[in-house]
Amino acid sequence: MSKITAAITAVGAYVPDFVLSNQVLETMIDTNDEWITTRTGIKERRILKEKGKGTSFLAIKAAQNLIEKSGINPEDIDLVLLATATPDMPVASTGVYVASQIGAVNAFAYDLQAACSSFLYGMSTAASYIQSGRYKKVLLIGADKMSSIIDYTDRATCIIFGDGAGAVLFEPNEEGMGLQDEYLRSDGIGREYLKIDAGGSILPASAETVQNGQHTVFQDGKTVFKYAVSGMADVSEKIMQRNDLTHNDVNWLLAHQANKRIIDATAERMGLDESKVLINIHRYGNTTSATLPLLMHDFEKQLKKGDNLIFAAFGGGFTWGSIYLKWAYDTK
Ligand code: UT7
Repeated sequence: MSKITAAITAVGAYVPDFVLSNQVLETMIDTNDEWITTRTGIKERRILKEKGKGTSFLAIKAAQNLIEKSGINPEDIDLVLLATATPDMPVASTGVYVASQIGAVNAFAYDLQAACSSFLYGMSTAASYIQSGRYKKVLLIGADKMSSIIDYTDRATCIIFGDGAGAVLFEPNEEGMGLQDEYLRSDGIGREYLKIDAGGSILPASAETVQNGQHTVFQDGKTVFKYAVSGMADVSEKIMQRNDLTHNDVNWLLAHQANKRIIDATAERMGLDESKVLINIHRYGNTTSATLPLLMHDFEKQLKKGDNLIFAAFGGGFTWGSIYLKWAYDTK
């Protein structure tokens, strides 16, 4: 019997309607379109404005989009994994609620948090369940309502992040398609450079933490940038080397969309032509767990069966890594 590999067989996505453009940000903080565009590549991001709606709303929409497109029966899903850094609530798994809402009544579900690498790590987790032979349909959703943890008076962070969600289905494959190799890394040195200070077990929420603005994202952008550039390039180069892939063998790079300059540096180290680098950061900004599935969704028609895809991500913690995956289907 041939070895079971874990292939992505369907993709879905959702972004909220409200567009926050660089021009609007210019009216809110001391910034300008030229600075944001040249430093990050971002032009606009989507924001979930409606009160009372959280990450689950985005995740459910993305999953429903996948279910409609693929025609799968949600009752056949074995596991729903929700990659997110912004769960609906600190306790009560958001993924469980999402699974119930989409009709995945026979699935178990949980959340997976690794900052901006949540989805990449989730790909590894989802694929492992499939490769083990234990489950046949694993729905991996990446969703974040970043606007819920951003201070819109802090120009160092509010220009970068946006809200969004994407979903993929992992299924067994006997043609050798799907996840081929992974190289995942983490280093606690990153804890001080990208974080939310309060609201966790070290510093629970209090009137003081709210007053001090300790419930929104702090980022030492320069330091994170430096680690992200070398980290993402190192793992992508390594995964190519150990799979004997040259730049000619790689069809597409799908890199976490945090900063266009970080993506360019990774592509350069891989020797990739820019035509092979999938980019949508100008439309959504950094949607944390949703960047990679949003890329697959937006460029689905261009991906061909057998194409070699390299995924790469870098995020808080630090967490980072690279995955080599063979695309499993053509879109009509
Ligand atoms: O996804 C999770 C991982 N996160 C990342 O990968 C993000 C990594 N970091 C970055 O992408 C970049 O560091 C930023 C986009 C956050 C910032 O870009 P930078 O080129 O590192 O800028 P900087 O922080 O070094 O700031 C350069 C200058 C400063 O002015 P002075 O001190 O040179 O006069 C800042 O005050 O730009 C100023 N600045 C701004 N100006 C206009 C900082 N933010 C802004 C802004 N608009 N929004």
